[in-house]
Amino acid sequence: MSPHILLKQLEADEDIPYDLLLLADPSKEMVERYLAHSQLYIASQAGVTVGVVVLMAREDKGIEIKSIAVEPELQGRGIGQLLLQKAIEEARQKQYKSICIGTANSSVGQLYLYQKLGFEIEEIYKNFFVDHYPSPIFEKGIQAKHMLMLYMQL
Ligand code: ACO
Repeated sequence: MSPHILLKQLEADEDIPYDLLLLADPSKEMVERYLAHSQLYIASQAGVTVGVVVLMAREDKGIEIKSIAVEPELQGRGIGQLLLQKAIEEARQKQYKSICIGTANSSVGQLYLYQKLGFEIEEIYKNFFVDHYPSPIFEKGIQAKHMLMLYMQL
């Protein structure tokens, strides 16, 4: 577990960490579409970037985690869980009523993590990944077809 992780909003003169963002969503076009309406936070530890979180306000007084990613060599050490907890904390402080996150039916590890932290599956956008991505996406032999939206009331 890595306790001293700082979350800081990306400054205008800093580079967008596309390598991290593309881990969470393979489509640069989709990434650029949500970045235009979101706040991007860089997670760092001792001055080194370890991950990214992107938050977007929604019309329903909630906030959505549009992206979360941890540097590949640092995954599996509790950083992702810590970033999610920080995102939830940030949303509470800013008085949002709910926080949500969407992921594919095939992202089994992510679904485990989000539900473990208290997010609940409330919506399914059938065939989202089939309809919006140019080629099929597979994770461990499961096709990413549907987008599952998980919510937590704050
Ligand atoms: N597969 C299996 N288990 C996982 C996975 C996974 N992909 N991700 C997390 N877990 C489990 C861990 O095993 C751990 O379980 P435990 O608490 O029982 O020990 C728990 O979830 C917490 O794991 P962390 O170590 O905190 O997770 P990590 O630091 O690896 O971060 C993350 C998770 C952000 C999903 C990271 O693996 C990652 O960057 N993956 C690639 C990008 C991605 O898929 N992002 C999410 C897409 S959806 C979106 O962005 C809205």
